[in-house]
Amino acid sequence: MSEFIKRMGHVALHVPDLEASVTWATLVMGLREVERTDGVSYLTHADCHHSLQLIASTCSGLDHIAMEAHDEAAVEDLTDRLRREGVRILSDAPQEPGLAAAVRFEGPEGHVFEVFSGMTSDAIVHTGSGVQPRKFGHPTLTAVDVHALRDFVVELLDFRLSDDIGDGTLVFLRCAVDHHGLGIVRSRVAGLHHYAWEVESLAMLGQLGDVLARNAGAFIWGPGRHGAGNNLFTYHFDPAGAVVEYYADLYQVWDESSYQPGRWSLEDGRAENLWGPRGPEELMEVATPLVGRAVTTSDAREGQRP
Ligand SMILES: [Fe+2]
Repeated sequence: MSEFIKRMGHVALHVPDLEASVTWATLVMGLREVERTDGVSYLTHADCHHSLQLIASTCSGLDHIAMEAHDEAAVEDLTDRLRREGVRILSDAPQEPGLAAAVRFEGPEGHVFEVFSGMTSDAIVHTGSGVQPRKFGHPTLTAVDVHALRDFVVELLDFRLSDDIGDGTLVFLRCAVDHHGLGIVRSRVAGLHHYAWEVESLAMLGQLGDVLARNAGAFIWGPGRHGAGNNLFTYHFDPAGAVVEYYADLYQVWDESSYQPGRWSLEDGRAENLWGPRGPEELMEVATPLVGRAVTTSDAREGQRP
């Protein structure tokens, strides 16, 4: 268990058509819009104030990823650690509604992390439409230097390595019992590869396929079962072009003392899918870029297929 982080919180995305994205999030994903302020929609899958932030913008992009701290003292302790280690802190007070305490800071390639506590909640849980997730599961970030970002979250945020695929091509990290609350995949550009939501069962993944089909959508990949993490999965695009994973049956690490990180080779494909087809190129090459960062490859190493 992470000394600071209790669980993953939300992802905040810039979208070029806010109305289209909110409509899709409520009708297809079954989220509920809690609040819309100054062109930012706050949506939730359950009773928390938000597990998805959609920000009206001119283009698609990743604004920040957020994690919930154990309590306010953990936010303060983490802030002290970040200051001691010379991490660039962007703010040490909440920058969005619904939070009691928060710190925002920058990772080695410019990813913005937010760690918060005291999110408000209400009694409403059911939304009545779409395929409602039961949890915001994880973001998988893209990075030019996977090892540098891995070390950042391990050494500063107290995450643990769960699996390594292709010697650092893709790594999964955990802050709690879920096999991964964060993924990092090698790419030509720093950004977001996908954001993932947990549902109860394979049946709900099938239901999602039907809901997507009725709304002019379709899976990009899956259903299948990842070897790394052992979870059932599907992937599709949201209206802004970001990739969304729905998953179920993720491996749980209940015994920290005996768990050994898995080492998977890229060649046999089992890390990607125990059931069959490997991920299509259109999924492997995607990245939602960081907001405000030019998408160039001039300063990046050559990417590799995960
Ligand atoms: Fe946030």
